[in-house]
Amino acid sequence: MIRTVIVLDVHREAIDITTIYFKDETVRTSKPGQYVMVWVPGEDEVPMSISTIDKNGLSSITVRNVGPTTEILDSIQPGAKLGIRGPYGNGYMVEGKNPLIVAGGSGTASLLPLVQAFLKKGVRPMFILGGRSSDQLLFEDELTELLTENLVISTDDGSMGYNGYASGYAALLMAENEFDYVYTCGPELMMAKVFYEAEKKGLPIQASLERYIKCAVGLCGNCVVGPYRVCKDGPIFDTAMLTEVREELGVSRMDASGMKIRVSH
Ligand SMILES: Cc1cc2nc3c(=O)[nH]c(=O)nc-3n(C[C@H](O)[C@H](O)[C@H](O)COP(=O)(O)OP(=O)(O)OC[C@H]3O[C@@H](n4cnc5c(N)ncnc54)[C@H](O)[C@@H]3O)c2cc1C
Ligand code: FES
Repeated sequence: MIRTVIVLDVHREAIDITTIYFKDETVRTSKPGQYVMVWVPGEDEVPMSISTIDKNGLSSITVRNVGPTTEILDSIQPGAKLGIRGPYGNGYMVEGKNPLIVAGGSGTASLLPLVQAFLKKGVRPMFILGGRSSDQLLFEDELTELLTENLVISTDDGSMGYNGYASGYAALLMAENEFDYVYTCGPELMMAKVFYEAEKKGLPIQASLERYIKCAVGLCGNCVVGPYRVCKDGPIFDTAMLTEVREELGVSRMDASGMKIRVSH
């Protein structure tokens, strides 16, 4: 059932990324890693990870402007109305006593609630915050406050922290540390590399996959990867599921019309 929410606050995170706060009693009960379908009046309905589950009664989504619908969300102002369905999807299982979390770009949105869930359990994860450059690092202040020295940074252009891809940094840290679990959300090519590295080390992993989502309830088949529907069985894939879909991981996906296309990032 679609519900109307009013935008109560907006926060610009980067030139093309903004966080939109709203109040919704059902989203407040979400699990880390779940998403909502956001209907933008006059445009389209798009899936967005829940970046804040409940902070003083507010929930949020964090949007990168990549096309017509996200462009409208990028410039939305308090007072505007949106339609919301969900939360949908399985969410992360919060496991491990010494986990490594690898975040790339807007993928950080689904991982912030995971960090908070770990801290509630008394576990402080190691977190690689990856971005194209230093001005594209999402939630750097919040994560620094939560994780202190367990937050490390990588930038593709070397403008801050490790100079290179987050997946390369993850491989280095996995070699130097005794992690017992790996989590990742970000560009699929990055997640595929993190998966292969975790697999080499025999570490269990959970990764948040993106496919073109229409119905979000497992009916239309547009989000299928291997035997799974990303909208319902995912978006979080564990080691066994990732192993099963490895041929498609970082390789192919369906577009809006259901045609197979290459994964480009
Ligand atoms: C489970 C899930 C969680 C997501 N969480 C976030 C998030 O937290 N922040 C964020 O910025 N983006 C997130 N996305 C991606 C986001 O849904 C797309 O960027 C958005 O739909 C683009 O819409 P558009 O009309 O602006 O752009 P378009 O020009 O229509 O599309 C741009 C790109 O987005 C993809 N896209 C478009 N519509 C959909 C759709 N219905 N489902 C999946 N992909 C689509 C297209 O395949 C294309 O690659 C998530 C996607 C999924 C599947
Ligand atoms: S989006 Fe329709 S089955 Fe997943």
